[in-house]
Amino acid sequence: MSTRLNEPRTLTRYLDPDSATARLHAQASELIPRGTSRLHYLFAPYPIYASHGAGCRLTDVDGDERIDCLNNMTALIHGHCDADVNAAVIAQLERGMSFSEPSPPEVALASAIIDRVPSIERIHFRSSGTEAVMMAIKLARAFTGRRAIAKFEGAYHGYYDYVQMGVGSTPADWGPSDAPRTVPSSGGISTTVPGEVVVLPFNDPHGVERLLEQHGHEIAALLVEPLSNRSGMVLPASGFYDFLRDVTRRHGIVLVFDEVIAFRVGPDGAQGRYGGLPDLTTFGKIIGGGIPIGAVGGRAEILEMLDASAKGGKVISGGTYSGNPLSASAGIATLAKLTPEAFARLEHLGDRLRSGVNAIFARAGVRARATGDASLFQIVPTDRPIENYRSVPTDAASNDWLARFHRELIASGVIVSQRGLGCLSTPMDETTIEECLGAFERACARMRD
Ligand SMILES: Cc1ncc(COP(=O)(O)O)c(C=O)c1O
Repeated sequence: MSTRLNEPRTLTRYLDPDSATARLHAQASELIPRGTSRLHYLFAPYPIYASHGAGCRLTDVDGDERIDCLNNMTALIHGHCDADVNAAVIAQLERGMSFSEPSPPEVALASAIIDRVPSIERIHFRSSGTEAVMMAIKLARAFTGRRAIAKFEGAYHGYYDYVQMGVGSTPADWGPSDAPRTVPSSGGISTTVPGEVVVLPFNDPHGVERLLEQHGHEIAALLVEPLSNRSGMVLPASGFYDFLRDVTRRHGIVLVFDEVIAFRVGPDGAQGRYGGLPDLTTFGKIIGGGIPIGAVGGRAEILEMLDASAKGGKVISGGTYSGNPLSASAGIATLAKLTPEAFARLEHLGDRLRSGVNAIFARAGVRARATGDASLFQIVPTDRPIENYRSVPTDAASNDWLARFHRELIASGVIVSQRGLGCLSTPMDETTIEECLGAFERACARMRD
């Protein structure tokens, strides 16, 4: 039996020791470390397991339905089982799932992205955002003949070794604010990697300028996550991305915008909204309509590093599933529905949600806020201004508050990530936002119980 959200029952069946979730998790824990390969979704005591989704709602294996404000980590901008996306995928399935040969959907998706984003002259598809970032770095190294990279503190770019630096630093190890230490955020990374990564302070032009004066001649690529959720989705200070464009050009550094998430902020992505005109852009998530994908696009002369027949072409890439027709078909159908009107509607709903949540927090006396832009939002456990990664509290009390609030939101019928990341999808409307706000209200009340 499925439980609708408009009966505000507490959705905690998954926590019963004999629930389908508990049994599945116990079985999974014998087979898969921590009971899932989706380690980025884990929360205590165990995650909910998805049974099925429809529109903006997801039903867990115990039959409880919630509003899905996470949408496979922001990938599903049209929610679950969108009729047009499904039809495109089924039509392609009937022609074949994947081929050794290139096929028309790859070309059509390339054309759809190049038409939207003025900085993209050529594009190369991969199977994940992580691979796209890896290729962007290799292309930049081959193009510049340099080995190091620079990235901002707190920015997440997937799990290629060189970008797993300075992602989860804490006051105990992060070093000076204008020269953050290069702290590995994972085990298993070679000890030579930190020596090839410079971590930069976000929204600090003087700090960036100084570090690039010092290290610029060694740096192949500077990566930017335009709306970093680990940094509380802080917006760039006015002109910051144009400053990055200018300073990287002066130092001969390839500027890379990682729009794996941020591409969903508007028709031509984050660069259209915040400026910056990058040399390369990495994509993932929405451009595959929910099926694995990644892409790196940008200036033709850099992408030509992939063409061994061209002068200077020297980057070798593979990938059994790169450019595959299923993801490309889902991506084409997804982008076709993302009109300027669709983005404007999502932005309006996003503004309603953020202001509604902030009003609820203020009434409840909760020192937290909803940040973000367009269809993206983030619950941050602070009421202080957010300038960069270091403004987002990492102390035990704040972490505990967020973990508990996340659990109470799940119980109240709304799914966000355990870090407070959320996003909207096009099947949502004003009523959905009201339902979400009702859930936030109930979660706040339960925090007081
Ligand atoms: C900004 C950014 N870059 C790269 C990635 C990695 O993408 P994927 O999970 O598809 O490997 C992510 C994933 O969330 C991301 O948010």
